[in-house]
Amino acid sequence: MRSSHLKGLAMVVLLVVLSLFVFMGCGGQKEESNDDIKYLIGMSQANLVEPWRVKMTEEIKEEAEKHDNLKVIFTDAAGNNAKQVKDVEELLTEGIDLLIISPNDSKALTPVVAKAYQNIPVIVLDRAVEGYDYTLYIGPDNNMIGRQAGAHVVELLKNKGGKVLEIQGLSGSPPVLGRSEGFREIIDKNSKIDLTASIYADWQSDIAEDKVNLLKDNLSGVSVIFAQNDHMAYGAYKAMTANGINGIKYVGIDGLEGENGGIDLVKKGILESTFRCPTGGKESIIYAIDILNQIKGIPKKIILKSSIITKDNADQFLNENKKTSKEHERNITPVLGYAIVGNESMWRSANTQSIKTAAAESGIELITVECESSQQKQIDAIRSFIKQKVDVIAFSPIVETGWDEVLKEAKSAGIPVICSDRSLRVKDDSLETTFIGSDFIEEGRRAARWLEGKFSDSSNVNIVELTGTVGSTPAIERGSGFLEVIGKNKKFNIIRSESADFLKVEGKKVMNDILNSESRKIDVVYSHNDDMAFGAIEAIEKHGLLPGKDIVIVSIDGVKSAFQLMMAGKLNCTVECNPLLGNQLMKAVNDYMNGKELPVKIITSEGVFPQESAKKEIVNRKY
Ligand code: AHR
Repeated sequence: MRSSHLKGLAMVVLLVVLSLFVFMGCGGQKEESNDDIKYLIGMSQANLVEPWRVKMTEEIKEEAEKHDNLKVIFTDAAGNNAKQVKDVEELLTEGIDLLIISPNDSKALTPVVAKAYQNIPVIVLDRAVEGYDYTLYIGPDNNMIGRQAGAHVVELLKNKGGKVLEIQGLSGSPPVLGRSEGFREIIDKNSKIDLTASIYADWQSDIAEDKVNLLKDNLSGVSVIFAQNDHMAYGAYKAMTANGINGIKYVGIDGLEGENGGIDLVKKGILESTFRCPTGGKESIIYAIDILNQIKGIPKKIILKSSIITKDNADQFLNENKKTSKEHERNITPVLGYAIVGNESMWRSANTQSIKTAAAESGIELITVECESSQQKQIDAIRSFIKQKVDVIAFSPIVETGWDEVLKEAKSAGIPVICSDRSLRVKDDSLETTFIGSDFIEEGRRAARWLEGKFSDSSNVNIVELTGTVGSTPAIERGSGFLEVIGKNKKFNIIRSESADFLKVEGKKVMNDILNSESRKIDVVYSHNDDMAFGAIEAIEKHGLLPGKDIVIVSIDGVKSAFQLMMAGKLNCTVECNPLLGNQLMKAVNDYMNGKELPVKIITSEGVFPQESAKKEIVNRKY
């Protein structure tokens, strides 16, 4: 690195360290007596070299300053895993009430995060850790940012194609993997686009500048340089223009404010565009306070929204960010139109009840239409909500596809659409404002992992899979998550996989047919929901077999009846799928009405309940 850059960097680090020092109450007006402090939060930052991380830290500081009874202690791991582990250990000895960590490396930080989580809540920011030993994850969807950037590059090249240079961050880091995978997914579909080269510049502007400088002679004809952060895009720009190479379009990611931040670079015409990658700093404090105040319904994952910034919307973007929430506040009762899937399962009844109760409690006028498991009825309901000019539309799409038209109509009417419980696939991501629900893939994996443990000593395990409604997200994803884990072990064989539409009566019928026609021994029934398992249990008993003993049964949902059947020894395990989404949905509606940007995904917190836990857990079941 050049010495001028080193000096610049040293200044930035010094300023940040000084400002944090003041904030930590070590000098200046912010000092509070310990009696005033109700909550002490530790924030372990991976490094303070990347401007994006400096911004994250600033956001945390700004949001925390709004609360007199809150103190945040910051540490900087300077990009070193061992140092970050030590930082967390030290924060724990300081007696922090909650840890916020943005890990330097997912794997290396997993054990210390799990250790902290045994005693206090932990919020993981940006880079995830392995497993689920934390309270809440907040971060961007890097794959989606990559796809958005890819689609934009295709558009910049006017679909005619051309040469593209990609500059990636730090090799192997999760955002790099996600962004490049998403970017390639789009670019690779376009045979006229030539990804001429892809280089790593460790997120650093100087490294990008040096590497592009060295490579410049091989870059003739490159029309677009896509860098995985704005900082590197700027470095590339400096190298190219210093060599008299002009006319290239630079696309970056981050969209930070301030001089030479992404937005400024777009306004100056240096970058063609940038994709805002929210840091989650502000949200981490908002949720930390909710967690510390033991507010119910804290999700497990919050995936933040990213959007494109060009010269056309840069100012609007800056102004929007400056608005206080007061300016957005509205004094009307929001009207929410909700198209209920139907009444196919106990899970659905609990889900519908939760939505109705939460709406009444939060002063939201709720109009519901019961759609009797019909996609057409859901489409009609959405159209009727548009006619009634509701403020927000929400629904659980019965199947994943076929929504483009009606959601375009909602968008043209200026009505946001929230998907709750099930998600959908549309060509234009902006048709869906946010998703609130479960990680169905993980539910499938959890069922499979439980089976791996249960059958660790067996050499061959024959599985019957009862799948949910064909084409619905839970059926697709519970199937793929299950297969992802089970498929790695040859002793597990899915001998039959048939749909029973999430219905008890169908579960009984399908299982009965299978038992009549199947000559192979059935060791396991994996059911995509509890209701189908209840039906299967009746069919198994009718065949003179003992469910839970002769055939092991694992299902998904975790309704109260599943716990009763586990206590009776007829069901072996239920993987939770939380239907109590009402509070989170109403919060999203109110946040939207108050002008707050909604995350792109809000994923609920869920567990796994084997038979042995049923007696203890049944008293806690709310549905
Ligand atoms: O979409 C959630 C699923 O739908 C539940 O697991 C199932 O019971 C249902 O009806």
